[in-house]
Amino acid sequence: MEGYEPGTYGDRLADVYDGWYSDVTDAEATVERVTALAGDPPGPVLELGAGSGRLALPLAARGLEVWALDASAAMVERLRAKPGAAAVHAVVGNMAELDLGSGAPERFAVVLCAYNTLFNLTDTDAQRRCLAGVADVLAPEGRLVVEAFVPPPGGEGEAAVSAVEPRHIGLDEVVLTVSRIDPGARTVTGQHVQIREDGIRLRPFVLHYAGPDQIDALAAEAGLVLVERHAGWRGQPYSLSSDVHVSSYARA
Ligand SMILES: C[S@@+](CC[C@H](N)C(=O)[O-])C[C@H]1O[C@@H](n2cnc3c(N)ncnc32)[C@H](O)[C@@H]1O
Repeated sequence: MEGYEPGTYGDRLADVYDGWYSDVTDAEATVERVTALAGDPPGPVLELGAGSGRLALPLAARGLEVWALDASAAMVERLRAKPGAAAVHAVVGNMAELDLGSGAPERFAVVLCAYNTLFNLTDTDAQRRCLAGVADVLAPEGRLVVEAFVPPPGGEGEAAVSAVEPRHIGLDEVVLTVSRIDPGARTVTGQHVQIREDGIRLRPFVLHYAGPDQIDALAAEAGLVLVERHAGWRGQPYSLSSDVHVSSYARA
């Protein structure tokens, strides 16, 4: 999508993000698990693509030192405006070129990349650079935790599929999600088209997805090995029919 930049997704979605995505994943269990992984006494936690703080804020409320990186200034602004935000170190930046600026810890006990956020990096090379950056800042006993959907098998040589689906139908608003999935390129390109009496808002998204094995391979290139994989944050067993995985990586 021409003109689509790292901050585009968040900048165009920040005003509705909390309303649309507040309960998309099990935030309570995420906070429990990340808190446990941070150790005792806890080491610092870095969330990549932290958005408006759905996870970063409750993590900080648990007493953890939380760094929240997001490419979207609008998302970071939302985070900073919320109660408890003073306890979060919120930074605008690209997770593919990890740089938290001066004052950041050299090493993190946990690096969290939740809710498909790794796929917001729109090509494999950006995902590779991101994981290399994570490996550089992970403490010797630290964990990178990735939460992502499991794409359907196949892909190579399959034709792209386009769809228009109603996301929300209300009295004064319709949101249509227009998308094109290209299984060969492993991309989903789309727009949430929000139609209201006073106008239309376009909320674009581009995802470059990868299967668990492909993420493992990228992690391995960065010197990270898979420690455990579950089908959710509560330790649900992962199987070939799981549609989500929560995978933890450590330095090799
Ligand atoms: C799916 S949202 C997830 C937000 C939050 N982690 C949550 O679970 O609610 C993805 C976030 O990643 C951010 N993002 C996208 N590309 C990024 C990049 N290259 N670097 C840093 N953040 C990015 C977006 O602005 C957005 O806030």
